[in-house]
Amino acid sequence: MTGLFISFEGVDGVGKTTQVERLRAYLEAQGRTVVVTREPGGTALGRAIRQMLLHGVDGGAADIAPRTEALLFAADRAQHVAETIRPALERGEVVITDRYLDSSLAYQAGGRELTLREIKDLSLWATNNLLPARTYLLDMDPALSHSRLQHAEDRMESAGDDFQSRTRQAFLDLAAAEPTRFRVIDASQRIEQVWAAIEADVETLLKELA
Ligand code: TYD
Repeated sequence: MTGLFISFEGVDGVGKTTQVERLRAYLEAQGRTVVVTREPGGTALGRAIRQMLLHGVDGGAADIAPRTEALLFAADRAQHVAETIRPALERGEVVITDRYLDSSLAYQAGGRELTLREIKDLSLWATNNLLPARTYLLDMDPALSHSRLQHAEDRMESAGDDFQSRTRQAFLDLAAAEPTRFRVIDASQRIEQVWAAIEADVETLLKELA
């Protein structure tokens, strides 16, 4: 595969979408073809799964069992990789995804009752072992990032401060365990400063790959 695969991670409201768009513009200006996508919901099937996960079924907030939840996120990811990510990488394009398997590791294993090993095995099976070349973890206190959210809370977002704090720590632990793939960026800085940190790193990454 000749393309470049980059993911953005972090708790809700840290500004991933803004930075993803900055990175898209930067890479397109260099003549790259860029596919911007997201999880859950990067495909048509994924959007149906996303709806179930975030808003429940039959208009009610479904009580989704932890294993079911993990499988639904993994199913979304499997389809996303097969339908969108791998084909784009095979065409030599850049794929930037707003969330990927580290979100499952942080939210489903870090926050709820399943082990990291179980969720990791499930995700690697779902993706046939596809990992990003670089993962930007936008890190900030969930109490702050939450207050930035500009829409009504979904099922995951309303899981409580404790859950969000554990999730943040889980992301930081994942980053510490894989320092080559991850870059932790302080997302409490101004948008321009956050972008400057990402831009500097991407420049180095592109040079390394060239
Ligand atoms: P996201 O699309 O980032 O939310 P929004 O559109 O509100 O910005 O993600 C939806 C929620 O799903 C978010 O709270 C994180 C959660 N999530 C998991 O719990 N596990 C996963 O594997 C993924 C991809 C997301």
